[in-house]
Amino acid sequence: MMNGLRKISKRIQVAWQCPSNIALVKYWGKRDFQLPENPSLSFSLKNSVTETSVEIIPGGSGKVDFLFDGRESVFAQRVETFIDRLSVEAGWMRKVDFRMDSKNTFPHSAGIASSASAFGSLALCLADLDSMFSKGETDLYARASSWARMGSGSACRSVFGGFAIWGKTNLFELAGDEQAIPLNGPIHPVFKGLKDAVLLVSSGEKEISSSKGHQLMETNLFKRSRIAQAHEHLYGLYLTLLTGDKQAFLEIAEAEALSLHAMMMTSNPPFILLKPNSLEIIQRIKLFRERTKIPLGFTIDAGPNIHLLYFQENKTEVQTFIEGELLSLCEDRRWIDDGMGDGPVKIS
Ligand code: DP6
Repeated sequence: MMNGLRKISKRIQVAWQCPSNIALVKYWGKRDFQLPENPSLSFSLKNSVTETSVEIIPGGSGKVDFLFDGRESVFAQRVETFIDRLSVEAGWMRKVDFRMDSKNTFPHSAGIASSASAFGSLALCLADLDSMFSKGETDLYARASSWARMGSGSACRSVFGGFAIWGKTNLFELAGDEQAIPLNGPIHPVFKGLKDAVLLVSSGEKEISSSKGHQLMETNLFKRSRIAQAHEHLYGLYLTLLTGDKQAFLEIAEAEALSLHAMMMTSNPPFILLKPNSLEIIQRIKLFRERTKIPLGFTIDAGPNIHLLYFQENKTEVQTFIEGELLSLCEDRRWIDDGMGDGPVKIS
């Protein structure tokens, strides 16, 4: 990998756009260095993306100049630590300085996970640069996934379009803890254009970081059964992706979201991240589903916002429902109209 150091004789700049992703089977709990306790399955979003450009300046010492939205950002420290870790594997990173610029297409205050798209786009830029200097055989996306994981676990799933799986499972021989793999198999067409309406219940500071949340799983009384459940849910969910069973798909997604929050509520110390309006939205989704028989459901990350999952063919009715019955429960009536996307794009 290091054989090409002499080749870095001029400034090189690359830029990538990478989406955020939403997990249907949740990664919750990690061990060693950013390795998951259980396999997870997610899909990449279309509209919630980060664009990052990285310029390398030869003759440096690994110094990082990181701007977010054109300004200095608290994220810079995390990026520096990230580069420091990667440079163990990619020694060229110690011989250059970095100038990085990053921006999100979604509002930073929206309370949706930006670290997945941020580290995804950064890792793609770095893996792209690495491919110019190294003679390694590793596929660009596989390397980017493994590197993104070191920045933020869930980011490793963002470097692929559509569905992705991360973590060892008997289901896929190729799936491992080091990096995610795209789910390229025969997915049922009902999932084409799967929609995710992000209902922004609260954009306030998170009460607990994901990293702290993962740590609390170490001592959670239900840790073992939670890991077993994630494996079962992964099997079940994958089956629904093959058969097109929308109802079972939504049931598993909801069970996962509620288990994630149950884990937080049973941690020591416990955390309740759902707000009264989150619960009211869940209730209204259930009532609407019973009344109309339209297949829709929800998933939730480690926060109060509700991701309303539905299918392309019901878009009109569901968006009328969102506007009429759910927006009054969202902060400033805000929501993000998103859905499954095709994955990252190289900008330059
Ligand atoms: C609830 O990937 O944010 O969104 O690895 O510490 O950066 P770190 O955690 P992070 O955890 C995400 C947890 C989750 C579930 C998921 O995305 O699978």
